[in-house]
Amino acid sequence: MLRGSFELIGDKSISHRAIMFSSISKGNNKISNFLMGQDCLSTISCFRKMGVDIDIQGRDVFVKGNGLRNLKKPNDILDVGNSGTTIRLMMGILAGNNFESTIIGDESIGKRPMKRVTDPLKSMGCKIKGKDDANYTPIVITGGHLHSINYHMPVASAQVKSSLILASLYADGQSMIHEKVKSRNHTEIMLKSFGANIDVDDLTIKINPVEELYNQDIYVPGDISSAAFIIVGALITEGSEVLIKNVGLNETRTGILDVVKNMNGNIEILEKRFVGGEIVGDLLVKYSPNLQGTIINKEIIPRLIDEIPVIAVLATQAEGTTIIKDAHELKVKESNRIKAVVDNLKKMDADIEELDDGMTIKGKSKLKGAQIETFNDHRIAMAFSIANLISEGEVSLDNKLCIDISFPGYFDLLKDLSK
Ligand code: S3P
Repeated sequence: MLRGSFELIGDKSISHRAIMFSSISKGNNKISNFLMGQDCLSTISCFRKMGVDIDIQGRDVFVKGNGLRNLKKPNDILDVGNSGTTIRLMMGILAGNNFESTIIGDESIGKRPMKRVTDPLKSMGCKIKGKDDANYTPIVITGGHLHSINYHMPVASAQVKSSLILASLYADGQSMIHEKVKSRNHTEIMLKSFGANIDVDDLTIKINPVEELYNQDIYVPGDISSAAFIIVGALITEGSEVLIKNVGLNETRTGILDVVKNMNGNIEILEKRFVGGEIVGDLLVKYSPNLQGTIINKEIIPRLIDEIPVIAVLATQAEGTTIIKDAHELKVKESNRIKAVVDNLKKMDADIEELDDGMTIKGKSKLKGAQIETFNDHRIAMAFSIANLISEGEVSLDNKLCIDISFPGYFDLLKDLSK
């Protein structure tokens, strides 16, 4: 069982943005509760290579911004490691800075589609070259004068939206970006606080170019996507009660809370408050013996996209059928998460079937131990470490180190909470 309380580590999405927007602002920025995960450290490393002075002190980061148009041509290749957020958002910034640079990443990044960003950036006037018509790394990008864009997004992706919002800051007129389904909006919220001229009307975002962004102090709320593993662990293990403090509760991220409530899970939000434009609260989660299956589809998918692997584990402990649909995007995450979840849960004796855009899971199942293939995907590794809490026999992971991508200290925390 899991018992106790803890302060949640910083949000990955917000930490990336805090480094990037501080780097292109004018003045000194302080970022507190920054996530020292490998992905966010990759962002720091890339912006340092472009001449930004970034100083890490404990969990705080001090950034001396270079200004919007004053990043330096890097002497070295920009390596984004495993981070999709770094490469896609950074390309939006590079599109407006007048130099050529080359971007690479790890094996997983090399398989993830970039055309969703490079095509619209090219249409704004940015020069981009790369494998398969700039769909894959290595990518060579030359920024400069950009035209405004009026873009209807074919995929629900905050990374694509953010990249285009960033490029639009440099454009020669007002840009409009239209979403089909609302994705996380941290870019819009944070950029406004840096002085950007952004207007959001439901699914349409209007961006006017600006001369400069201005420095900010940013507090990074806790990452609900990281909390998700502990939430599920507490819901499915008898006797559990955990208080998770400082959880970011931006509505574009809280799909998991709606799902847990629909499934009859015992979760309460305490002490909701606003911090720097983002909602934060504490979550009290208790063991829930009467979980029910549910349907997860359409608009809620972007609000819980990263949580689906661990929600699948949760569904194995719910009575009845859980259907997860409209989640094609899972195939192009750090791994093919539909396949990774289905194949590994099958090995554990779960009653699960793969769909083209998701999966169906019938519960309740007794899970047995198995050898898990993580595909070096941090969220697959953590999801199955939670399955391990209830399995008969040990779950062994072929890679635990990948968890440092988003949740350094994860196993120490799990050990502290395990009673
Ligand atoms: C992220 C957006 C999501 C998410 C990723 C982080 C972001 O990706 O899966 O972990 O920080 O904008 P997409 O927006 O591409 O779905």
